Amino acid sequence: MLGQLRANFRALCVSILLAPAVLGASWIVPGAVWTDTSGNKIDAHGGQILQEGTTFYWVGSAYASNEVPNIYSSTDLLNWTFQGPASTAVEFMYRPKLFTSGGKFYIWGQVNRLVQALESSSINTGYSVYGSAFSLPPDARTYSDEGIFVDTTGEAYILTSADSNNLQINEINGGSSVSIGTRVDNGNLIYLTEGAYEAPGLMKSTGGIYYLVMSTKTGYTANANQFWWSTNIAGPWNGPSGIAPSSSNTYDSQNTFELKISGSQQTTYIYMGDAWDSEGTAASNYEWLPISVDDSAHTITLEDYAFWKVDVSTGVITTSTTGKRYNAADAFNDLVSSRYLVVEDSCVACERSVHNIDSQSNVTIHNIEGTGEPQWVSIHYTVSDPTAGDAYVWLNGEKIKIADKNSRAGKFATVPINLTLKKGNNNVLTFGCHAHAENSDFVAHLEGIEVVDD
Ligand SMILES: *[C@@H]1O[C@H](CO)[C@@H](O)[C@H](O)[C@H]1NC(C)=O
Ligand SMILES: *[C@@H]1O[C@H](CO)[C@@H](O)[C@H](O)[C@H]1NC(C)=O
Ligand SMILES: *[C@@H]1O[C@H](CO)[C@@H](O)[C@H](O)[C@H]1NC(C)=O
Repeated sequence: MLGQLRANFRALCVSILLAPAVLGASWIVPGAVWTDTSGNKIDAHGGQILQEGTTFYWVGSAYASNEVPNIYSSTDLLNWTFQGPASTAVEFMYRPKLFTSGGKFYIWGQVNRLVQALESSSINTGYSVYGSAFSLPPDARTYSDEGIFVDTTGEAYILTSADSNNLQINEINGGSSVSIGTRVDNGNLIYLTEGAYEAPGLMKSTGGIYYLVMSTKTGYTANANQFWWSTNIAGPWNGPSGIAPSSSNTYDSQNTFELKISGSQQTTYIYMGDAWDSEGTAASNYEWLPISVDDSAHTITLEDYAFWKVDVSTGVITTSTTGKRYNAADAFNDLVSSRYLVVEDSCVACERSVHNIDSQSNVTIHNIEGTGEPQWVSIHYTVSDPTAGDAYVWLNGEKIKIADKNSRAGKFATVPINLTLKKGNNNVLTFGCHAHAENSDFVAHLEGIEVVDD
């Protein structure tokens, strides 16, 4: 009897191990095209995440559908299920933010440069208009962006930025009838020095320091987002300082929300940014990165990872990946056209690269191993001028513009893209580029590719 049970148990284990792998997102890959569980591109820009129990709800503006608020849900921040538009009652709602109080759910967003609230009894659908649209700040200034923040005390705040270089923080009155309450600064607008700011987000560290993150105002072009700190939500605010190396322009993104994961082992803060395309369309992607906090220095800094994930129950971040590397230099002998190509060290202690790849030359890597399922492939390359041309790969003859697969294309040296390689080791990948203008001296340098393990 016991032996039979053991045998059954072994059989069960074997069948679990042999079950076909369920395909899903295995990493958070900043800048890449993210798809939902139906395989559609996630459309939730200028958004925010509200955690209810073990489920995370991501609300954002649907740029492919007249900016209605879309909602996605996930239990791991990787695998997102589309819940549908939150409401059919509004359109052109920007920067929607979710909030819950008294067993109801609310979305605040910007409509026609006014704040509009929506309300529903279920978090993922059925929102109707709640009250009239109103102006914040309530003076002659024009309101633009908003954020939301719930303090450890349970107090909630709405953040609004205006065109005259200020930020306003209002309490949210909770209970069964939610409303916007008093300004935390007792009527004095918070003026942030040296510049003009929008896209506010706020977090409070475990050490009790408030960090306010905002972008400067450059439309859909990325800028170096800044932070301020304070020991009191009413200020005074100290800053600004950068949250990332300023030359990276916040890794080509704009702040929308700071997500806190209160894990059993650590509290982890996540920067949620939008990687807008140049016109702010639905082709825009997302740039989420862990935030490292140093309360003794009063600094927060984005940690730049090409692949990462967080265990939402422990709060622990994993970043290391293994994969199979294919060096461009090893493909050098195969070059069909090698007019100007040279193999050189990319930099001190880096791999050797194939340099001067232009519109007249390609580098082809053979015998790449694939699984027959979508896989992450890092393309390690740089270009002479990201505005002057584009790099492409041809996978087994199919042409793919790298920038269509990842907003980081041309701007950073590691660009992960999702490719479906054939099963087996006979995949062929050709790398090449096109300049936008004729007689351009646009060139690319390819170090190699890496097929990343899940
Ligand atoms: C993704 O989430 C859906 C819905 O919760 C679930 O059915 C599916 O198994 C999940 N896939 C993975 C890979 O976690
Ligand atoms: C890769 O892209 C395919 C569609 O081409 C999609 O079904 C799959 O979910 C994507 N995988 C990841 C990890 O993004
Ligand atoms: C580069 O390779 C692609 C795919 O094989 C091919 O279509 C293209 O003509 C090649 N370009 C050059 C300059 O050889």
